[in-house]
Amino acid sequence: MTNIVIVGGQWGDEGKAKIIDLLSEKADLVIRYQGGCNAGHTVVTGDQTYKFHLIPSGILYPGKICLIGNGTVINPQVLTEEIENLKAKNIDTSNLYISPFAHLTLPYHIDLDELHEEFLQNNKIGTTKRGIGPTYIDKVGRTGIRIEDIYEKEALNSKFDMILPQKNMVLKQYGKKTYEKEELIEFCQKYAEILKPHVTDTTEITRNAIYKGKNILFEGAQGAMLDIDHGTYPFVTSSSPVAGGASTGSGVGFTHIQKVIGVFKAYITRVGEGPFLTELNNDEGEKLQQIGKEFGTTTGRKRRCGWFDVLIAKYSAFINGLTGIALTKIDVFDDFDEIKICIAYKDKRNGKLYHDYPANTYIHKHLEPVYETMPGWKQDISQIKSFSNLPVNAQSFIYRLELLTGIPIEIISVGPDREQTITRS
Ligand code: GDP
Ligand code: IMO
Ligand code: MG
Repeated sequence: MTNIVIVGGQWGDEGKAKIIDLLSEKADLVIRYQGGCNAGHTVVTGDQTYKFHLIPSGILYPGKICLIGNGTVINPQVLTEEIENLKAKNIDTSNLYISPFAHLTLPYHIDLDELHEEFLQNNKIGTTKRGIGPTYIDKVGRTGIRIEDIYEKEALNSKFDMILPQKNMVLKQYGKKTYEKEELIEFCQKYAEILKPHVTDTTEITRNAIYKGKNILFEGAQGAMLDIDHGTYPFVTSSSPVAGGASTGSGVGFTHIQKVIGVFKAYITRVGEGPFLTELNNDEGEKLQQIGKEFGTTTGRKRRCGWFDVLIAKYSAFINGLTGIALTKIDVFDDFDEIKICIAYKDKRNGKLYHDYPANTYIHKHLEPVYETMPGWKQDISQIKSFSNLPVNAQSFIYRLELLTGIPIEIISVGPDREQTITRS
């Protein structure tokens, strides 16, 4: 039995789904533990590309049990479409199970997300506008609708009696469409029926799996720097993408988890607003964006690009308790003469150097990255299958990152396809 958490080490889109897909082969269960359809997870197998928002990427393997845990927020319409799309591609979804404790993203959450962003104007977060923040606000405020509620008509009715006047008051005040209780009940009942075969006590499934010594993979969404507590607040998402979230978001105590693999891009991308010290607003950034095809999977927005940041990697390694790293997209550097790695931050006011990620977010605006430069390898590495066959400069880059982060790089991804992977342990 080996239970492994896969987390994003940076600001999301590190290639987590590709790594989940790779490791799913040996897993019995794959569990999504937080976030909602703000996530966009891409898996490429031969000529097929699959994009997941809510369903665990492990679903592509027949017979694999896939769970959407209590820590997630579910837009039932998006989930239903995702199930239908998979069925249309002959992918079996009968082993997909949803926690009754997961919260529902309802249409007013999406409106409120948009409204909130409008309000913030120049301070906007740049959310995916999928209603994620408002759904988690209701969860924490104890006014959320959970999956289990949609099967209890009376309870649902009285919950809407309690919640809806508040929502409508805000929506009306700002000239937005308001909602009738009946239409929302109808909406919930429609999806209650569709999703019924998938709703079950997911903790019972995980408990039995653990007692039988099965292998569980926990699929993180977003990334450590988007974590509500540990990320670049307020430019974060509203859940806990860090490894600790796997435990609370699935109901599996952390002593049942043996490994945590952080997925890192060989550079960094970020979608939406917020600080990003190694961001490149120049031709090099543009080159990374184009070669890396850095467009958001969910929103299609251009991703901001910059160099690998060791301070973030070390910070992320600690808060997630990483046991290993999966390094993705190093093939994007194939045509680069030089590659930079940020090894410290310098305070522009007094020259003070930081070798660890500073906790005081107010000083971030005074910092600039200090780089170390490594030579590129100027060679197509996308078909290389073993570490020893990588060009020496690519090997040196990997050894250097291992030394700087102190974490073994166990998986190296050299292309989007399942096959384009080098495994070291
Ligand atoms: P996730 O949200 O972390 O699962 O990542 P996304 O799917 O949003 O974005 C990662 C993108 O990079 C996807 O289009 C993947 O197909 C692609 N990708 C993953 N690994 C590699 C790699 O090693 N090389 C290249 N060139 N593309 C990759
Ligand atoms: P995956 O799982 C990258 C970002 C948004 C925004 C911030 C808050 O594919 O890595 P939200 O809609 O969550 O309230 O937006 O978080 N964001 C992501 N960025 N990858 C993601 O998911 C993201 N999910 C949310 O762009 O900056
Ligand atoms: Mg993504």
